[in-house]
Amino acid sequence: MEKYVIKGGKKLYGQIDISGAKNAAVAIIPAALMVEGVCRIENIPQISDTKKLLEMLSLMGAKIKYINEHTFDIDCTNVYMSDEIFELTRQIRASYYLIGSMLGRFGEAHTTMPGGCNFGVRPIDQHIKGMKALGATMDISRGFIKAQAKGGRLKGARIYLDKVSVGATINIMIAATMASGQTIIENVAREPHIVDLANFLNSMGADIRGAGTDVIKVRGVEKLHGGTYCLIPDQIEAGTYMAAVAATGGEVTLNNVIPKHLDCISAKLIEMGVEIEEGEDYITIRRDGELTHANIKTQPYPGFPTDMQPQVSTVLTIANGTSVITEGVWDNRYRYVNELRKMGAEIQVDGKTAVIQGVDKLYGAPVAACDLRAGAAMVIAGLCAEGTTTIEDIIYIERGYQDLVGKLRKLGADIAKVNDPEPKTDSGIAEAV
Ligand code: EPU
Repeated sequence: MEKYVIKGGKKLYGQIDISGAKNAAVAIIPAALMVEGVCRIENIPQISDTKKLLEMLSLMGAKIKYINEHTFDIDCTNVYMSDEIFELTRQIRASYYLIGSMLGRFGEAHTTMPGGCNFGVRPIDQHIKGMKALGATMDISRGFIKAQAKGGRLKGARIYLDKVSVGATINIMIAATMASGQTIIENVAREPHIVDLANFLNSMGADIRGAGTDVIKVRGVEKLHGGTYCLIPDQIEAGTYMAAVAATGGEVTLNNVIPKHLDCISAKLIEMGVEIEEGEDYITIRRDGELTHANIKTQPYPGFPTDMQPQVSTVLTIANGTSVITEGVWDNRYRYVNELRKMGAEIQVDGKTAVIQGVDKLYGAPVAACDLRAGAAMVIAGLCAEGTTTIEDIIYIERGYQDLVGKLRKLGADIAKVNDPEPKTDSGIAEAV
């Protein structure tokens, strides 16, 4: 079993490059299914989620050419539906964007219910409502999703989302791209990767306006053509390193960022006593003094991102005073708290609220990554703790962070990925637990 082993207590210094945005990549790769011609996508992060999505396209007949570590040519000219993707579609959340892109490309879709991190119930009712409004029949049973556009092509419609949903906004926007007529989607999410997806589709011939506001208008087109597109940098990856420096102290410059996308995170860290300097495409984080408590409520963009809640809450475990965290997006995003308690954190959780009483320090311990960002939080805890922390289930972390160990080592952290064989009994047979 692979683990991270961290010897904590080292301040971080230096500079690193931030990779392309995971949540933009996992929407744009499925959307590329609709493009007839070669689309070159640059700045794709090398993480397991993007690798799986590229593999799904390949199983559907796409020709995928590796140009360099972050650039791929995807040619979906001769794609077809294939049941071979089901093993992969079950494993990740973003596979549900294939519903929108298959409906757009083939007039029908066949996939499985998606996988992804466990934050309690993760309904897809808004996706279904959107597809139905665009004229698709939706048949969901025994973990499979079958959709069929009436008359073979979706038809533009006016859709009001009952809940601000990143995934539903993206899926409906993808589906509407190749529908006949105009689609107006209201009460949509405004995350930077939604704007990135719209820019990608527009550069391939789509007609989408309003992404980044709460109303998106899509005029359907008959065809998308090839082109070149470069993904935005990852807001949450950058935020995670910002939180790491806040926790350990030190001074780090993050290159290849869009500082505007980080405002919601920077504002909170400044309130906690962290110094932040912004350039055109870089940000420098410095922390010398004490950390101060802060209250956080997670909200859709431009509010404080839920995907930064575990990491910044971890920093607050060693801040002076009491902090109150309110999780405003997910029902159950505090599973990591039990792990932090093993390291000496004092946190009480009541429903969507967590109250953190700052302690002098955390202590290294064996812990597990419960999900992607919870795993990142464990890494931050390990970096600032006294002693050695081992983190299991790092497979979750590697779904979303490219070369986390390499980047942290570059900043002076003592972190290693080790392959720990399963515990054995005296007879050499793995113990059943
Ligand atoms: N919701 C519904 N019905 C729906 C869809 C969502 O009730 O049909 C609810 C959810 O239960 C949740 C809220 O709406 O309470 C927001 O969910 P959203 O649809 O925005 O989340 P998502 O699209 O499933 C994406 C990211 C998550 C991130 C959220 C919120 C991807 C692949 N995932 O999920 O990212 O937490 O938006 O920003 O883009 C991560 O990167 O670690 C991650 C989990």
